[in-house]
Amino acid sequence: MADYRTTDGAIVSVLMGSASDWPTMKKASETLDTLGIPHECNAISAHRNHERLGRYLADCEQRGIKIYICAAGGAAHLAGVVAAMTHRPVLGCPMKAWSLEGLDSLLSTVQMPKGIPVATFAIGSAGAINAALYAGHILALSDDAIENRLLDFRKKQSETVQELAD
Ligand code: RP5
Repeated sequence: MADYRTTDGAIVSVLMGSASDWPTMKKASETLDTLGIPHECNAISAHRNHERLGRYLADCEQRGIKIYICAAGGAAHLAGVVAAMTHRPVLGCPMKAWSLEGLDSLLSTVQMPKGIPVATFAIGSAGAINAALYAGHILALSDDAIENRLLDFRKKQSETVQELAD
């Protein structure tokens, strides 16, 4: 039996280095839900569960995963390791872990040496939400339903900001 979770029809994979990242990455999952993007979430550490990570990634693309959102804290290498193992877009979310307010995670995620890119987002929940939205932007290029939901989200967001201003 597989030692990770899969979701039928998932096109985005949300990966976390630890279950302790979930309170933040739940916001990415909720944002993907808002855009109607089928996804699956797993906590698989690149350094503590590297064999499990390899098993998980082995058939992701055959199952339909198009984009990976990878969250990690500290010496955050999960996004880079996943990017090394796929040519699909990898969106990195630096987590505020146990020190340095997440600056360590940001630098670890963003400073990929040339050749294997990771698109890196802001530290914490803003980055988690924006990574999910950005996955929507990529998918909207070839999916009209997702594009419509993304435009609807942005319209409602503008209205809410205007209401608050009023
Ligand atoms: C990273 O270390 C995880 O992504 C998490 O942000 C951080 C702390 O993990 P735990 O010690 O809480 O499992 O691997």
